[in-house]
Amino acid sequence: MAINSTRLIYFSPTQTTRKVVEGIAKGVGVDDVEHLDLTPPGAAVQRQVDTRDGLVIIGAPVYAGRLPAEAAARLQRLMANGTPAVIVVVYGNRAYEDALLELWDLALEAGFKPVAAGAFIGEHSYSTVATPIAVGRPDTEDLRAARDFGRMIREKMGMMEDFGDISLLQVPGNFPYRESGLFSSISPVTQEAACTKCVRCVSACPTGAIVLQDKVATDPSICIRCCACIKGCSAGARTMTDPHVRQVAEQLSSSCRSRKEPEMFL
Ligand SMILES: Cc1cc2nc3c(=O)[nH]c(=O)nc-3n(C[C@H](O)[C@H](O)[C@H](O)COP(=O)(O)O)c2cc1C
Repeated sequence: MAINSTRLIYFSPTQTTRKVVEGIAKGVGVDDVEHLDLTPPGAAVQRQVDTRDGLVIIGAPVYAGRLPAEAAARLQRLMANGTPAVIVVVYGNRAYEDALLELWDLALEAGFKPVAAGAFIGEHSYSTVATPIAVGRPDTEDLRAARDFGRMIREKMGMMEDFGDISLLQVPGNFPYRESGLFSSISPVTQEAACTKCVRCVSACPTGAIVLQDKVATDPSICIRCCACIKGCSAGARTMTDPHVRQVAEQLSSSCRSRKEPEMFL
C-alpha cells in the first residue's frame, strides 16, 4: 500500500512537537504534506479527517504524564474513517507515563487506525537559562531518528495489501490514566518595563488567555502554563515568577540531566 499524502495534526505551543512530526513526515517522503495545527484557539472545531491513500501523523506534548487537557479536547473533535495514523508524544526528558496510551486510545476512538507510535524528547517548556532542561531538543540526532522512523513506517505500509492488514500494537501506559495534578490559577506575568506591546504573546497563546488592554493582561484561570508566551517574547518580558513552578523547574533541571532517547513502536 503506497502512501501518497501525509497530514500532520498537532498541538504544539512551543513547537517541539511540530518539529518531530515534520521530521517523521520527511522520512515518509511524500511531497503532498498538509498541516492541521490545533494549537491556536480558533482550531478547536469539529472536523472530518479523510485522507485517501494517506497517512496522518498526530502529535501532542506530555503534561504531567498525560496529554494537555486542551489538546485532548481538540483532538476529540476529529472524526476519521479508518485513516492510518502515527501517534507521537513529545516530552521534556522526564517521563511520558500514560500520555502515549491516552493519545493512542483517543485516535482509535476518533476512528483512526494507529499503525505506529513514538515518544520523542523536546526542550522542556519550563527550561530557562538558569534551569536548563533538554535544551535544544529535538536536536540533529532526534530529527534523524524521526526521519528513520518515517522511513520504516513507509516500508511497513508498503508491504501491506490494504489497511485490513494493520495489526494493533501495544504501547506503554496504564489505564485508568494517572491523575494529571497540574497547578491551577498560575500564569506567566509581564514585566511592564520590558514589554514592547508587540503582542507576540497574545498570538502565541493557545487558549486566548492573554489580551492587550492598556497593558498585557493574562487570565490565569484559562492559562495552561505551556510557556509559549515566554519562549516567544524576544524582549524577555514574560516570566514565570510563581515559586512552585520555579521550584519544579529547578528540581527537573537537576533530576532530568541524563539524556533520554526516542522510543518507537511499529
Ligand atoms: C504544564 C506542563 C507539564 C509538563 N509535564 C511534563 C511531564 O510530565 N514529563 C516531561 O518529560 N515533560 C513535561 N513537560 C514538558 C513538555 O512535554 C515538553 O517541553 C514538550 O516538548 C512541549 O511540547 P511543545 O513544544 O510541542 O509545546 C511539561 C510541560 C508543561 C508546560
